[in-house]
Amino acid sequence: MDRVLSGMQPSGYLHIGNLMGALKNWVSLQERYDCYYFVADWHALTTNYADPSIIKEYTRDLLLNFLSSGLDPEKCTIFVQSQILEHAELHILLSMITPLGWLERVPTYKEKKEEIKDRDIGTYGFLGYPVLQSADILIYRARYVPVGIDQVPHLEITREIARRFNFLYKSEVLVEPEPLLAECPKVTGLDGRKMSKSYDNAIYLNDSRETVEQKVLTMVTDTQRVRRTDPGDPEKSPVFQLHKVFSTEDEQKEVAEGCRTAAIGCRDCKKVLLKNLFAVLEPIWEKRRELSENPGLLQDILEEGNARARKAASETMKAVRKTLDMY
Ligand code: TRP
Repeated sequence: MDRVLSGMQPSGYLHIGNLMGALKNWVSLQERYDCYYFVADWHALTTNYADPSIIKEYTRDLLLNFLSSGLDPEKCTIFVQSQILEHAELHILLSMITPLGWLERVPTYKEKKEEIKDRDIGTYGFLGYPVLQSADILIYRARYVPVGIDQVPHLEITREIARRFNFLYKSEVLVEPEPLLAECPKVTGLDGRKMSKSYDNAIYLNDSRETVEQKVLTMVTDTQRVRRTDPGDPEKSPVFQLHKVFSTEDEQKEVAEGCRTAAIGCRDCKKVLLKNLFAVLEPIWEKRRELSENPGLLQDILEEGNARARKAASETMKAVRKTLDMY
């Protein structure tokens, strides 16, 4: 079985955009590949080094959501990056051979530097983000990396670093990985923009039923539709955008038609969406509750995943050390 690897940063609570966009895809891949999935807690430090206290909480939330959304520890390996020290060792070796120019050119680096103004991210660690990510991937000799389109430049650097390493040290230890771009639905946030924790417009997997209900019922719809009797345009409503991800085709047709003819009100339309959201969230909440009530279980699963990951990583490092042939 080919190996797949991917990671998520614990930089916020997981929301339904992350669930539909990435996690669902991870769950389906575990049936066909030898999958390694991890929480990239060191990566979260690159932008959040001043306040690491929250990273642990977000890490726990991610692990709980990995498991409650269907990742099966019998089928895939789940671990936490900072527990596998070999990533750091490979990272330092790769940092020696990575030209600065490659890092300075990465679009996410330039964008984030523009975007983040409340913290100083002119750090060595932040510039080196893609080198650490390369170490994460190369240490498992992963063939495929399921990621969003924004991560493709990082994968390109990973391939270049692997090639350079193998060339310099006349080695075949490192495997050039390929991105695995899944077709994933774009999940709109409560305000019509892309769902994102930084816009404060998300529905989180750990929101309560009441919170989800309240968030949806207070969403803006077509602002031109003032009275219940006014016809509306579903395309102007973020509620309808969510229907596109969570409702059946028939339901979408029904609410769109009802909106255009004023046969239904916004509240009716939202009720249909809520029913479908709950159908997705309830099984997740249920599993999450089970796991939370049994803290030893999460710990055991994690320890087993960490041990499996450590074994694979240390095998690669043995070969890497041999290649460099140092004292
Ligand atoms: N950079 C990725 C993101 O922000 C997270 C990540 C870290 C990652 N290491 C990885 C993804 C290795 C895939 C493989 O989404």
